[in-house]
Order: sequence, then structure tokens, then C-alpha cells
Amino acid sequence: MIISPSLLSCDFTNIEKELNYFSHIDNVWFHLDIMDGHFVPNFTLGGPLAKQIVSKTKLPIDAHIMVSNPEFHGELLKDTGIHNLTFHLEATDNPLELIKKFKGYFKSVGISIKPNTPVSSISLEVLKAIDLLLIMSVEPGFGGQSFIESTYNKMNDVVTLKKNHDLSFMVQIDGGVNNLNSTKLKDHGANNLVAGSYIFKDGPSNYEKKLESLRS
Ligand code: DX5
Ligand code: ZN
Repeated sequence: MIISPSLLSCDFTNIEKELNYFSHIDNVWFHLDIMDGHFVPNFTLGGPLAKQIVSKTKLPIDAHIMVSNPEFHGELLKDTGIHNLTFHLEATDNPLELIKKFKGYFKSVGISIKPNTPVSSISLEVLKAIDLLLIMSVEPGFGGQSFIESTYNKMNDVVTLKKNHDLSFMVQIDGGVNNLNSTKLKDHGANNLVAGSYIFKDGPSNYEKKLESLRS
């Protein structure tokens, strides 16, 4: 299980310190939310800051772009050194074309669906092409929201599809993840959990404990 602390909830004024608290732990990716103030009603950061963050850690950076024009933002991020780029299915008419393009820029490419987007709206061609599927378990835009329970039904659909078509993409869950739902999420096929407020809210002395509690 890969755990991805969502940097949206960390202390950005001490970013290097925050990243270092996790540097000795295995199977950690940092989740970096990139929002354009249009696809979602919030705004975060872009390429230059993403590049600086990448330079401060050896751990992989996983960018989740919540933007209306993923092609434009993907271009801006291509030389930042981020490991994975995930864009939203709802933001494009040509997901397959974009995946192919981004595969030339990033080691790993993912697609994400919002809570009201059914798994059936992702074509088999897209499922075959991705490295990661991000199922949003809250409406994208803000940390600290409550987990939406219907996510489990979507995960069941994904498990069936993966089995029937012998697909190997990673299943990432983002939003409202904590120690009370992590086991159930794992049992429903998750192999990457993103957690922001749960990991960061009680300060650095609890980060590792919190992270391990999501794996157990
Ligand atoms: C929300 C972001 C999440 C967010 C999760 O749009 O995509 O990554 O940081 O925060 P928590 O874990 O607090 O729900
Ligand atoms: Zn995210």
C-alpha cells in the first residue's frame, strides 16, 4: 500500500521540513493538488513551485491536476520532475490522446473521476492505457471533507473490470481517508491512499504514527 500525504494540508511555509519528516519511510508518495480556480473553486500552485518542491525530496511527487485545461497544465508541468500526473476525465473530450501525450512527459499517468462520475464513463481503452485510477471520495477542491460512502460501490465496479480485463493500474482514493476507513478501502481494492487532514492535523510528532495507522 502506498500512502500519499496530501501537501494541501501541510505547512507550506516550512515545506522542506515537512517533506523531510517522511523521507525515511518506504512506499510514500507526496500528493500535490494543483487547482486552477475554474475546474474547482480553489487555487493552489503551478509549475515553478511544483519544480521547487520536487527538488526538495527524493520521494515521488504525485500531481493531481484539478484544472479545466489539462493539456495546457500538463505541458507546464512536463519539466518539473514530478513522477505521476493525474488529470480529470470530466475536463477533456480526448482522454486517450492526452494519456498518450503525457506518457512522453511523466513516468506514470493517471485519470481521476469525481464522485458523481460513474466508472462506466471510462472507456476500456483508457483503462488499458493508465497507470493509476484516482476515485475521488469527496468533491474535489478542499481538504477536510467527509468521505462519501458510495465510493465503495465504484471500487467494486473497478475490481470487476480489472479482473475481467486483466488490468493492472493502481487504484488511488482521495478525500476523507482516515484510520476508520483505510482497512475497508484496502479490502475494496485500493493500493494507494491519499490523506491530508488526517495525517497533518495533529503535528509532526504524529505524522509517522498516522501514516502507519493507514496501512495496518
Ligand atoms: C481535494 C484534494 C485532496 C485533499 C484531501 O480536492 O484532492 O487531495 O487534500 O484532503 P483530506 O484527506 O483532508 O480529505
Ligand atoms: Zn488530490
